[in-house]
Amino acid sequence: MSNIVLLIHGPNLNLLGQRDQQHYGTLTLADIEKLVATQAEKYGLKIKSFQSNHEGALIDFIQKQTPTAMGIIINPGALTHYSYALHDALLDTHLPCVEVHLSDISNREPWRKISVTSPACLAVISGKKEQGYLEALDLLCKKIK
Ligand code: DQA
Repeated sequence: MSNIVLLIHGPNLNLLGQRDQQHYGTLTLADIEKLVATQAEKYGLKIKSFQSNHEGALIDFIQKQTPTAMGIIINPGALTHYSYALHDALLDTHLPCVEVHLSDISNREPWRKISVTSPACLAVISGKKEQGYLEALDLLCKKIK
């Protein structure tokens, strides 16, 4: 069985560290990727990270990497709220997926409360900043055991 977990970030998350720190925390995307990779090593897992500002590029990555992956951690950014294409791409992987949001999307603008991607995921972790990614990794590990 594969030991690769895909860690995927959508639009604008390349700017973490410069974005609203109250919502998104102080870490950069590179910091988060390192944090998750270090924790994954302890479980004997490898992280393959990808970020794009483009919906199609995210879908291409998911389709290409699915055959060699065991699970997905994804923060789709604003695509969360309207990308049925990303929902379908995740569903078609048949892999366990966990959706993570740094901010608490249930407690912001009304349009952020809706996640169209979450039905393709086994869980959503929201509002726990970078800690949410570590919880997502724990969940994936429990799921595959
Ligand atoms: C986000 C929440 C989204 O609503 C927003 O568009 C983002 C980041 C989060 O991590 O809290 O870009 O996914």
